[in-house]
Amino acid sequence: MRIYLTILLSICLLACADKKPQTQSEGTDTLQSEIQKTAKAIDGMVVSAHPLATKVGLKILKQGGNAYDAMVASQFALAVVYPRAGNIGGGGFFIARLNDGASLSLDFREKAPSKASKDMYLDQEGNVIPKASSYGHLAVGVPGTVAGLFEIYDRLGSFEKFEDLIRPAYELASNGFAISATEADRLNQYRPDFLEQNTTSNQFIETELWNEGDTLVQEDLARSLARIMKAGTKGFYEGKTAELIVKEMERANGLISLEDLKNYNPIWRTPLKGSFKEYDIISMPPSSSGGIALIQMLSMLENLKPEEHKFQSPLAINALTETMRIAYEDRANYLGDADFHPVPVDSLLNKAYLDKRLSAFSYGNAGRSNPNAHSGIRLEIESFETTHTSIVDSEGHAASLTTTLNSNYGSKILVGKGGFFLNNEMDDFSAKPGVANQYGLVGSEANAIAPNKRMLSSMTPTIIEKEDELYMILGTPGGSTIITSVLQVFLNTAIYNMDLNDAVQSGRIHHQWLPDMIMYEKGKMDSISLKELNDMGYKLVEKNTIAKVKAIQVLEDGTYYGVGDERNPDDHAEGINFN
Ligand code: GLY
Repeated sequence: MRIYLTILLSICLLACADKKPQTQSEGTDTLQSEIQKTAKAIDGMVVSAHPLATKVGLKILKQGGNAYDAMVASQFALAVVYPRAGNIGGGGFFIARLNDGASLSLDFREKAPSKASKDMYLDQEGNVIPKASSYGHLAVGVPGTVAGLFEIYDRLGSFEKFEDLIRPAYELASNGFAISATEADRLNQYRPDFLEQNTTSNQFIETELWNEGDTLVQEDLARSLARIMKAGTKGFYEGKTAELIVKEMERANGLISLEDLKNYNPIWRTPLKGSFKEYDIISMPPSSSGGIALIQMLSMLENLKPEEHKFQSPLAINALTETMRIAYEDRANYLGDADFHPVPVDSLLNKAYLDKRLSAFSYGNAGRSNPNAHSGIRLEIESFETTHTSIVDSEGHAASLTTTLNSNYGSKILVGKGGFFLNNEMDDFSAKPGVANQYGLVGSEANAIAPNKRMLSSMTPTIIEKEDELYMILGTPGGSTIITSVLQVFLNTAIYNMDLNDAVQSGRIHHQWLPDMIMYEKGKMDSISLKELNDMGYKLVEKNTIAKVKAIQVLEDGTYYGVGDERNPDDHAEGINFN
């Protein structure tokens, strides 16, 4: 009966869609397959936050697409099967390393609407209005994902038609797929928010209780995807979808206009490069803070040599923590969208400057963050949701992409009749100098709100070379903990010689200058180390999990080794061997 209804629904959807896509009946699997956290293969590898998105990427590779085609297709699929973070209503960052060694980075971060203003989240007394920047219509930045994915396809893709990369997602949205236990839990958890923020009937508010294995069909989203298949970026930034977004904004004083959508542009930027021992790091420049902070920390750690101390020993954590403190202090003071505010990138990465920053460090002593530099830390309870995908193809082209709606399901607003969630990325701006956002991060003038400006991110899609050859592709969700998690997974392999799976699954720590405390993962740290760190003067706070890394390593014999994170039950690594 369910199959019959699904077929009927699909026929109706195809008929109702603005353009009937030329479906080739390729039949994307709608059943959740067994999840695998690790895979080895020689002709390609995809690691993403959901098995169906991984399989879509693999399918494109098998059809002759390259890593960039596969990345675009898997991102559209994530918008369907992983709605809490996969998106067409958010934004992100992308790093590519071609097999000739050339590297590129694309910034498709959301932008503040043109009607946004510096004090838009302050009340008459100049205080930040709680949740105004993170919940509901005022929290939404102009989405960049569709323009970003098209740009990746247009510059690097090999498929003849963009629409063929969207088709698997379209099929998943229109035919439905079985949701995972984690997705069911999240949908149930956020149902009160969906009810509060949405008036237009949709599948997320109609269903009262989701269970693992329930079929999620997204008719409105399928129609939105069909419009992109038909008209490319204009199918999102102009015409019906744009009108639906603006109508949704007008319903509750949101700021995004038709002009804002039409004017959205992703930007190719020169990737940031740094080095650590025999490794070269390729990562994201502003408007992400990821590349600068990662390269700063690695540069300082090369001097401090934490590898002379056992993994997770108090002194190794001491060294990591103090470099994190410095990088996040600089993040707060200097980083923002460099198109709007000068960011002293070269000075921040200068070795002499970093040596000076480290001059107060001595092993065995805890540093201090200046408590006067901020007021009122508020850390949101909910987990930080973003998503990362790592892909490599048979030719050695590598792709690393992190995208987000910011919080789980972003602003919780599903565009009426558009079927996709809108981000709450405006919270990544500094609403007022020194006042923390939902991640506890503070900022300065460099990250103040301005019309059309991009809010500072921590997303750190990264590619690492070893002796000029591709070595690792990695990234993660995790808000402010993204940068420190990418750092630790890489270090675990590079200085502690860990197998990649151990490197990803091992416990992590995080320090971000303010609040002045080391976060560590429950059950993953030695209690003796914790006591000694306490004795050194550190405040320690336990967290359930820190980030969910998706990484691919190229082993010495050339085999691709993909690893998903056990912290996300749905992370799935899978590779292909052509022979
Ligand atoms: N929204 C999280 C980040 O971009 O850092």
